[in-house]
Amino acid sequence: MSVDLSQFIKSPDEIKKMRVAGRKAAQVLEMIETYVIPGVTTNELNNRCHDYIVNDLNAIPAPLNYRGFPKSVCTSVNHVVCHGIPNDKPLKNGDIINIDVTVIYDGYHGDTSRMYFVGDKINPLNKRLCHVAQACLYKGINLVKPGTDLKTIGKVIADYAKANHYSSVKDYCGHGIGSEFHEDGFQVLHYDHPGVDSTPLLPGLTFTIEPMINAGTFKVKTMPDQWTVITKDRKPSAQWEHTLLVTDDGCDILTLRQEESFVE
Ligand code: MF3
Ligand code: CO
Ligand code: CO
Repeated sequence: MSVDLSQFIKSPDEIKKMRVAGRKAAQVLEMIETYVIPGVTTNELNNRCHDYIVNDLNAIPAPLNYRGFPKSVCTSVNHVVCHGIPNDKPLKNGDIINIDVTVIYDGYHGDTSRMYFVGDKINPLNKRLCHVAQACLYKGINLVKPGTDLKTIGKVIADYAKANHYSSVKDYCGHGIGSEFHEDGFQVLHYDHPGVDSTPLLPGLTFTIEPMINAGTFKVKTMPDQWTVITKDRKPSAQWEHTLLVTDDGCDILTLRQEESFVE
């Protein structure tokens, strides 16, 4: 399988718009942090993000009505891997939660997610899982430059998860992003597979890396609501996501947060 990645290269004008959309998505994750506390419901977090995106950022929450998704952000708690639907259940001290934000501004998308600790009673094993998952993302990002291939990125991420006795989810992947939320034919797997092509990255490509790292098995299943993805063994899962731009000599993290000190 070989993909002609050149078809996904963005023009300078598109890149300008991607930078703006990326920064706005990052602002949502910065804004919501202080509200992720025990007792809050994921619906309350959803509504706060929605109002901020629409009223403060003058942007559109991409998940809302995307293929029938009913809310403005995804909230994935503990053993939920991704695509959790915000609901009225209060968060508990000790929960870990991923909030995944995608905004559309001026026709372009910014997509990013991070883990939050709910309260001060986080099991050290869950803390470690979150930190390793973030390191998986950062190890992937550190490889992004012209010439690197997607196969290598997937392998490095899965190998690092495995070295920490975790697994990397295979059923969901990163994606090319721009005027489309998920670019057809531009997938970023977080594991190695003989079928993954080794086409080198090119300057001007914009895509996400968003590893989902499980404490137990990589196997997942989708709940009857058709969205919520959970681990098959109900062990916890952690995910971090950034939108990236390949530059001439590396990459820019379009969704970088102020609090983030980028280290491997
Ligand atoms: N934000 C997710 C991603 O990283 C996609 C969510 S699709 C939704 O690709 F419909 F659940 F919002
Ligand atoms: Co994404
Ligand atoms: Co996302």
